[in-house]
Amino acid sequence: MKIYAVANFKGGVAKTTTVINLAAQMARDGDRVLAIDADAQHNLTDFYCPDWDGITLTDVLTGRSDPVPDRNIAHTAYENLDLLCADMRLLTLDLAAILSAADGQDLRLFDFIREVRERDDYDYVIIDCPPSFTASSVAALVCCDEVILPVKADAFSRTGALEMIQQVRSLGAYHIAPRFRVLATMADRSRLSRQARDLLKADGLDVFETEIHASVCVGESTFKRIPLYEYVPRSRVAQDYEALLREVRENE
Ligand SMILES: Nc1ncnc2c1ncn2[C@@H]1O[C@H](COP(=O)(O)OP(=O)(O)OP(=O)(O)O)[C@@H](O)[C@H]1O
Ligand SMILES: [Mg+2]
Repeated sequence: MKIYAVANFKGGVAKTTTVINLAAQMARDGDRVLAIDADAQHNLTDFYCPDWDGITLTDVLTGRSDPVPDRNIAHTAYENLDLLCADMRLLTLDLAAILSAADGQDLRLFDFIREVRERDDYDYVIIDCPPSFTASSVAALVCCDEVILPVKADAFSRTGALEMIQQVRSLGAYHIAPRFRVLATMADRSRLSRQARDLLKADGLDVFETEIHASVCVGESTFKRIPLYEYVPRSRVAQDYEALLREVRENE
């Protein structure tokens, strides 16, 4: 089982869009996928399970729920795709408390994922992180094998990615060393898009060859709550996400 966290300090860089579409395609290909919504904005939950009123990640992190995966997980309308949902109460979790109390082993999401791994229920776990360093994002980042960092062609999202990497590396107590890979999102044919990617490579970052092009279809698909491969299968952006999944798999 491979665990990906999709993260960037910067908001609005296509973290959730990437989780929605990577998870959907993995599941379509027959892989068993558990998506985890770690963001109090609960966009991923609203996309796949808008009517969910059961246990959420907040309950897992606060210990109000036993870490028994099948009692906590929502089944989406898509075969092979399940979701650990989020709700706004994630906002109230105290980062300082979780950091001071935990030595990495006693984090409850960590326990939850360990149980998921032992039960061999899923091939992939993919976690949608909030645009900040919160209790839920720390929990996600200490659990994952790889962090995918979506970055738009602007200086702010580059800074957000670099600072996120720095913060994860500073979690020394957790003894974690995830791989980091940057994904250029909302790309177009401008020189700026090209230069932004070159800059990230010059920073020494591992950048996906695949870039995700800007498309109005992405916003539309969120209103329809249909992943891109199904909503606009022939569109460039749907094909970009297919290419991304191939690249993710090639380098596992
Ligand atoms: N390839 C794309 N082309 C055009 N618009 C896009 C693309 N990807 C994402 N968007 C739009 O950009 C906005 C931000 O996307 P998304 O919510 O996925 O980002 P995010 O990083 O998860 O944001 P947040 O930090 O708030 O969680 C949304 O309106 C989304 O529809
Ligand atoms: Mg998001």
